[in-house]
Amino acid sequence: MCIIKIENLCKRTTSKQDTKIILNNLSLYINKGDFVAITGTSGAGKTTLLKILALIESFDCGDYWLNHKKISFRKDAINANIRKVNFGYIPQNLGLIESISVYENILIPLYIQRRNVIAIKQKIDTLSRILNIHHLLAENTDHLSLGEKQRVAILRACIKQPSILFADEPTASLDPENKKIIMKLFQELNHKGTTIIMNSHDHEIIECTNTRYLIKNGIIKKL
Ligand SMILES: Nc1ncnc2c1ncn2[C@@H]1O[C@H](COP(=O)(O)OP(=O)(O)OP(=O)(O)O)[C@@H](O)[C@H]1O
Ligand SMILES: [Mg+2]
Repeated sequence: MCIIKIENLCKRTTSKQDTKIILNNLSLYINKGDFVAITGTSGAGKTTLLKILALIESFDCGDYWLNHKKISFRKDAINANIRKVNFGYIPQNLGLIESISVYENILIPLYIQRRNVIAIKQKIDTLSRILNIHHLLAENTDHLSLGEKQRVAILRACIKQPSILFADEPTASLDPENKKIIMKLFQELNHKGTTIIMNSHDHEIIECTNTRYLIKNGIIKKL
């Protein structure tokens, strides 16, 4: 079943000097349960596409259907609700709040989502041990290394078992041991029904996916 359908999508950015076409008439179909890798050189438009798919960024032309419903970027409240209920997003810049603890970084979005926080505390405990960050839960986020922050961002996105997980270069700062743990976690989530769309340059984690695309010159090609 097609969960995401994108047709003839265009994205431009305008600076003082010029207008740049980042995504040019791009079409993409993702099925429920897919584990998708998107690759491409730096600046190819991977993050831009992922943000559009995750309803974080708008586009200039084309159509986007999510679960057969057409997405409109004029419907902010509806899109925010979809993000809150259905999506997990691991940003390339990790997107953690620096002045508060790791635990607060994980819990605050769950409060906003009105999740059952008592039930989820047990899951945080278990998952933080699996990701080797349990000893850091009380730490201020700005005291963490990049790889530790990456694992916090991964935990925060995965804890609610989203229907779609968007992961932007999720293993970029990880050592081989922690990378293996993330690969296993993603595979388990995928087997439980989460569709995963991941930007990556990492051949090992790309090996875990079942569908691979390359973005080049604004166009996406299935590999
Ligand atoms: N808000 C913006 N204004 C102007 N240009 C932008 C904006 N956002 C992205 N770009 C440009 O769009 C292009 C694609 O950026 P994007 O971040 O999507 O690339 P990427 O494939 O994710 O690269 P990387 O592998 O380095 O993360 C880049 O040339 C970037 O400079
Ligand atoms: Mg990027």
